[in-house]
Amino acid sequence: MANANLFNAKTAKNDEFYTQYADIQKEINDYLDYDSNVFRGKTVLLPCDDPEWSNFTKFFAQNFELLGLKKIISTSYAPESKNYKIPYQPTLFETVQPYYSPDKTKTNGKIFILERDITGDNRINIDDLEWQYLEGDGDFRSKEIRQLRNEADIIVTNPPFSLFREFMAWVMEAEKQFIIIGNMNAITYKEIFPLIKENRIWLGNGFNHGNAYFRIEIQREYADGVYDENTNLVKFRNCCWFTNIDHGRRHQPLQLMTMAENFKHSKHKGVRGRKEYIHYENYDAIEVPFTDAIPSDYDGIMGVPISFLDKYCPEQFEIIGQTQGDSGKELGLTPFDRELKKLNPSLRDGQLYYMENGFPQKPFARILIRKKTVIK
Ligand SMILES: C[S@@+](CC[C@H](N)C(=O)[O-])C[C@H]1O[C@@H](n2cnc3c(N)ncnc32)[C@H](O)[C@@H]1O
Repeated sequence: MANANLFNAKTAKNDEFYTQYADIQKEINDYLDYDSNVFRGKTVLLPCDDPEWSNFTKFFAQNFELLGLKKIISTSYAPESKNYKIPYQPTLFETVQPYYSPDKTKTNGKIFILERDITGDNRINIDDLEWQYLEGDGDFRSKEIRQLRNEADIIVTNPPFSLFREFMAWVMEAEKQFIIIGNMNAITYKEIFPLIKENRIWLGNGFNHGNAYFRIEIQREYADGVYDENTNLVKFRNCCWFTNIDHGRRHQPLQLMTMAENFKHSKHKGVRGRKEYIHYENYDAIEVPFTDAIPSDYDGIMGVPISFLDKYCPEQFEIIGQTQGDSGKELGLTPFDRELKKLNPSLRDGQLYYMENGFPQKPFARILIRKKTVIK
């Protein structure tokens, strides 16, 4: 259902989903628990964030001194450039300024800066935000925002879903630190997966039980249980945080059972009662359909769900590859017997398959991993 949600968000190019303050706070706290100075002396850029809408700006502005920040730069996207128009009304915060422009408020982005005490109360907080219209519409790809990106140390935001690939490329090109919300399926993108494999990107702490709830401003048609009209929150099940900043959970190895223990005690019917794990027909690896069913005593390669990355500890496992797109062919997955395709027309060369009851089966998207060292 939530996948359908994200799909709809893409087809309608609806990028207007706003992150909740508590989710930002929970995520950032995890980096601080690991290194309390992670933001100290740093310039943070929030490049898709209008303070009147964005809790990212609120969070960093309210915690400016606590985090020891040097500067916050928050930029917003012009209402008229948005794919998905929201009825727009400038707020008092903007209209009281002598430089308020009824035209620019629609066609230009805005830049908000927090770096000094302007109210004279000897504190730097949200009341000290200064703003101006940008020259352009605030598109993160523009020269203007690119320059701000280059000035920043850390980029944090929930970017437009419809431009996620481009946004990540834009972040990586600048070689900055980042904490970015995205769709878990992005793990398998050809631009993203190699970075994950090389430990240049990993998943952050994540949302409560994997469910992310974003605020919307305009009600649309959603399936039952997806949208709550009392809170204006829409539920997404496959969102995660992508980052290159370290956090503690990343170094906690998974507590796993041996193969024999899994066959005896696994909570999954597909594992409990078996005598062995299924071996793929076209690659030397076993199929492990659940992360908590990874056997602790198998030294070979294992195909695991992509959600494994949420629990991935680089000291415990190494990532060998993935089997989406052309990656499988690069890994040397042997083509299958053409006769098998008659039995299962969804089979594709370059993807894993295994035999079950005489039928070729294709697993869901898999990441191939191997145990690194035994962690006691
Ligand atoms: C998913 S929303 C998140 C907003 C905010 N970051 C938050 O988390 O509450 C993405 C925002 O990016 C804006 N946006 C869309 N295209 C953009 C672009 N090319 N450059 C900058 N911002 C863009 C959208 O209008 C939208 O407000």
